[in-house]
Amino acid sequence: MRRRDVLKYILTGAAVECINPFFNSKVLGEGLKQEDTQSYSKGLPQLKITDVKTILTAPNRIRLVVVKVMTSEPGLYGLGCATFTQRPLAVATAIEKYLKPFVIGKDADQIEDIWQTSFVSSYWRNGPVLNNAMSGIDMALWDIKGKRANMPVYQLLGGKCRFAADTYAHASGRDFQEVEDNVRRYMEDGYRHVRAQVSVSGYSTYGAGSRKAIRQKEQGEIKRIFDPSPYVRIVPKLFEHLRNKLGDEVELLHDIHERIPPIMAINLAKRLEQYRLFFLEDPFAPEDIGYFKILRQQTSIPIAMGELFNNPNEWIDLISNRLIDFIRVHLSQVGGISMGRKIAALSEFFGIRTAWHGPGDVSPVGHAANLALDLACYNFGIQERVIFQEETQDVFSGCPVIKNGYMYANEKPGLGIDVNEKLAAKYPFPPDELEGSWRPIRKSDGTVIRP
Ligand code: CO
Repeated sequence: MRRRDVLKYILTGAAVECINPFFNSKVLGEGLKQEDTQSYSKGLPQLKITDVKTILTAPNRIRLVVVKVMTSEPGLYGLGCATFTQRPLAVATAIEKYLKPFVIGKDADQIEDIWQTSFVSSYWRNGPVLNNAMSGIDMALWDIKGKRANMPVYQLLGGKCRFAADTYAHASGRDFQEVEDNVRRYMEDGYRHVRAQVSVSGYSTYGAGSRKAIRQKEQGEIKRIFDPSPYVRIVPKLFEHLRNKLGDEVELLHDIHERIPPIMAINLAKRLEQYRLFFLEDPFAPEDIGYFKILRQQTSIPIAMGELFNNPNEWIDLISNRLIDFIRVHLSQVGGISMGRKIAALSEFFGIRTAWHGPGDVSPVGHAANLALDLACYNFGIQERVIFQEETQDVFSGCPVIKNGYMYANEKPGLGIDVNEKLAAKYPFPPDELEGSWRPIRKSDGTVIRP
């Protein structure tokens, strides 16, 4: 282009449009017209998003991010989970500075259009911060639609396939006996599925506490040491012990938590196959998903994967090539209910079941979203459960209840959870200069490993 042409190009605005299509006033902010969706909301007034609030609270010292979306109908609002507990303030900024002004004034009924337009509004996309921010809005809009229809969200998703969601509990211990005792306790409480983790003496072992871990304070950093070899030696012995003592009926699960080199994980999976696990979780880090094909050729142990996934390219091949058995994404990490239901539908066609991530760093709103999908999706597998502590239940009313290992919906319209904002404010994030960041875990030689 000659200089004069370049100038003309800039002056016509073509360059600006090319860089940012939202500069085009024809596209800016309008969304779909009311007439376009009128038939769907017959008899109901159009609902505008009037405000968005980000609620930061830590009732049980876990940093939770919850989004409240207000509408033009007085008293009608929705809640969504946007909890990314290691980066909560980054998510809050993404909501307050970017998504809030983007969605105010939009039609609250247009959940999919709001999702898709928010998704591309950052141009760069599929990261955990922005996905969580989008999830906060997305779940809140499903909550609003449910309240408006006077139905629980699972009804909007197709209705119940089962009376409740079967869950699994976490048992751990310092030695085999302690793990066994804890599994037994859950079995007596009615659980049919229990995850078992044992601590490796002298090491910081995932899911098994770190009471015996080496904790040397060196240059201000508490050392958490983990070496793969002692861990892979002990785990098959744990499951041999549990099967011998507990019999065949209880379903046992285990989480490798992406901590060991891929080839060691394959070897461990093969040795665990004989103990008939319900699933083996996260054998590889997301960066090593190429190994699933190799694993699959060597063992029929059921595999669960995906709590760290953000991007469809991480799960599409694993699902469509039938390389895993349970998809375990963290709903807020992939963008909420809208994305979750698509992942469930894709999985159904390939015989893969859902096992949504459900730890303590999912807010009760997020657990209710998990449960809505659990109830409505045909290919539900299992739900990781959490016991909501008293303080959390005080801040969030309507938390799902577990009886005999089954998680039940409270049957209220929407997601069925409410938040007491005054009380939420009484539980600010606990003081921490790194705001909840995951602290490094190192091998004995000092090499940092994936958590
Ligand atoms: Co896990």
